Amino acid sequence: MSEHIATETATDAQSPNTTAGETVEAVEDEWTEYDFAGDAKFSATDLNVWYGDDHALHDITIDIPENSVTALIGPSGCGKSTFLRCLNRMNDRIKAARVEGSVELDGREIYQEGVDLVELRKRVGQVFQSPNPFPKSIRENIVYGPRKHGDIQTGLLSRLLGRDDSDAEDDLVERCLRGAALWDEVHDRLDDNALGLSGGQQQRLCIARALAVDPDVLLMDEPASALDPIATSKIEDLVEDLAEEYTVVIVTHNMQQAARISDQTAVFLTGGELVEYGDTDQIFENPQSQRVEDYITGKFG
Ligand SMILES: Nc1ncnc2c1ncn2[C@@H]1O[C@H](COP(=O)(O)OP(=O)(O)O)[C@@H](O)[C@H]1O
Ligand SMILES: [Mg+2]
Repeated sequence: MSEHIATETATDAQSPNTTAGETVEAVEDEWTEYDFAGDAKFSATDLNVWYGDDHALHDITIDIPENSVTALIGPSGCGKSTFLRCLNRMNDRIKAARVEGSVELDGREIYQEGVDLVELRKRVGQVFQSPNPFPKSIRENIVYGPRKHGDIQTGLLSRLLGRDDSDAEDDLVERCLRGAALWDEVHDRLDDNALGLSGGQQQRLCIARALAVDPDVLLMDEPASALDPIATSKIEDLVEDLAEEYTVVIVTHNMQQAARISDQTAVFLTGGELVEYGDTDQIFENPQSQRVEDYITGKFG
């Protein structure tokens, strides 16, 4: 029904506004078509999500290139987190959520029977808004996942069976902490409790923990929004470095941040629509959609 209203009013010369102050405008397919060199890591097609009767995401179709940073921006409540959770089926954990449509990871459908969700979430790691390290040592935060998955074996039994991977574990801890730009700050206190770290360090530890299970993709939902400017800029630098090896999809409500760190930007707007998607420079300098321009120039949102 809202679609019907949008097409009717978009032709109105008065360019009427919604209650959010947005100009009403139909989404045009070409605004979300984005040609890029290389392979798509994710291809979402006609993705819809409902929470009960609340239709939170509408017909999202988007290809996300590998080994780059894709920013998802848009006002609060437009479905950014919902979309992010579709990429590793975290919405499955929300009782009220219903997902329809397709998401392919490396060309394979993740919304089909028989998909191993543990394996999927290993490949597609997630970092949340507030740092949430385990109340354990720095080292244990890193090795928890690989131990649980049986990728690393330590302890008395492993020693007796000749399967002790202690050296490999030390290497892993160092590699992940270096990968998360935290090693230099914590290498001499790996057995200290992670909760003693600053917020920014905790968030980089959470990134290190995500790296420990050897993912292809890192999903980040406003990972710096609880941090001070210096900690934020460290995370931003890190995100850019990570994209050399990983596919990063990052939600941010901070447009300067999206402009600084991302290769491509997807703009979601009120009502759960993907309105425009393209090269970050193009989105910020020359958006095709009036609504996106209004949003970026701060007329609403
Ligand atoms: N767990 C949930 N249960 C019910 N409704 C939800 C839930 N999560 C999000 N929503 C609703 O879905 C819409 C999109 O939310 P969300 O994806 O969190 O947006 P954003 O991350 O862009 O702020 C909002 O209307 C929100 O209220
Ligand atoms: Mg959100």
